Amino acid sequence: MSGINKYKVSEELFAKAQEYIPGGVNSPVRAFRDVDAIPPFIVRGDGSKIYDEDGNEYIDYVGSWGPMILGHNNKLVNEKLKEQIDKSLSFGAPTRLEVEIAELITELVSSVEMVRLVNSGTEATMSAIRLARGYTGRNKIVKFAGNYHGHGDSLLVQAGSGALTHGVPSSGGVPETISQNTIVAEYNSIMSVENIFKEQGTDIAAVIMEPVSGNMGVVSPTKEFMDFVRKTTKDYGSLLIIDEVMTGFRVAIGGAQSLYKVEPDLTCFGKIIGGGMPVGAYGGKKDIMKYVAPLGPVYQAGTLSGNPLSVTAGITTLTYLKENPQVYIELERKGSLLQEGIESAIKEFNVDALVNRVGSMLTLFFSKDKVVDYTSAKQCDTKKYASFFKNMLQQGIYLPPSQFEACFISMTHTDEDIRKTVEAVRNAFKSL
Ligand SMILES: Cc1ncc(COP(=O)(O)O)c(C=O)c1O
Repeated sequence: MSGINKYKVSEELFAKAQEYIPGGVNSPVRAFRDVDAIPPFIVRGDGSKIYDEDGNEYIDYVGSWGPMILGHNNKLVNEKLKEQIDKSLSFGAPTRLEVEIAELITELVSSVEMVRLVNSGTEATMSAIRLARGYTGRNKIVKFAGNYHGHGDSLLVQAGSGALTHGVPSSGGVPETISQNTIVAEYNSIMSVENIFKEQGTDIAAVIMEPVSGNMGVVSPTKEFMDFVRKTTKDYGSLLIIDEVMTGFRVAIGGAQSLYKVEPDLTCFGKIIGGGMPVGAYGGKKDIMKYVAPLGPVYQAGTLSGNPLSVTAGITTLTYLKENPQVYIELERKGSLLQEGIESAIKEFNVDALVNRVGSMLTLFFSKDKVVDYTSAKQCDTKKYASFFKNMLQQGIYLPPSQFEACFISMTHTDEDIRKTVEAVRNAFKSL
């Protein structure tokens, strides 16, 4: 096969895309710049597999960055969508579906009593921040270094994900007057939260956090840290916003907040609640949610919010997860199978690397030392990750194109997929 370019069509499309779309992509990480590669252009997916324009098959560990927990081309979701399509695509008027999904979310996530649907995770966090400010009458917010909450102005300060990889701690175009109100704390550091609150606690509207961070790679919080953040925010009259855009319905049916037994004031959702369609949501206690327009003074709206197609895909996915609790046991089993396989390859080839995992979210870090926060994540050997990534791609394994992202396992990943993946890891380690 040597001499045949197996990415020819993707390369041509990428060259053309760059003429019309900034960087050729509609979200920066998709450009594969951090791994110095050309992105395959994807045409379809089925179960755990995706296929590119050149006909290459990959075992997919990106899963559209989290939503595809049931795998690609899920028959249940597709059938419901087809039924809904025949009833028109959007009304901009109330529907029964919105009531159903709101009821479902409040039933599954105990801290949420009322919920507002939006169109993306970014909108969810932006709106939750506005609500926290409107509710408390305070302006400052605290976020954690390496946590990413979408691209809203106040939250693009030492953000993870694409912003972390590109070394852009805050984006161009964000006025200082806005970022001044964002205080950055260290993840997993009680002392950093304590100091910030001692100095400015009475001005802080909210702390926003990823309850398991996926955007500097997978980093889990200690229980003490979570409890401390909850207690401190309460003591100072600030709100705790837990951003479950990635973790919601992924790490447990009740979200990471149910795993860590912490009750936030507000929660943000996205990804899985749209089953692969664009969606977001924020919700929480009724007395806070009643500040949202039209009930209260905090304005927030959306032409396509609660779109019947997104909501249909979301209801179908959430209902499946609710009715099949063994999903989370199975995802844990698959996750630990993959983790054990990679860890034994790390030992076998004596690679400076380690695996962090929570359920079906996993990151292989090229680091000797534990990764527990942004500082330790930044120590990773990103060049090594890039070579590893390219080698895996060549072997048909589609990983996140950045060291600072999570791999997602779906219900359709088979033990055979995982075995093949571990074999590919061994091959890649051999040639590192
Ligand atoms: C934790 C978290 N919050 C918010 C967002 C933003 O969501 P979206 O990309 O849908 O705007 C993301 C995206 O990956 C995320 O991981």
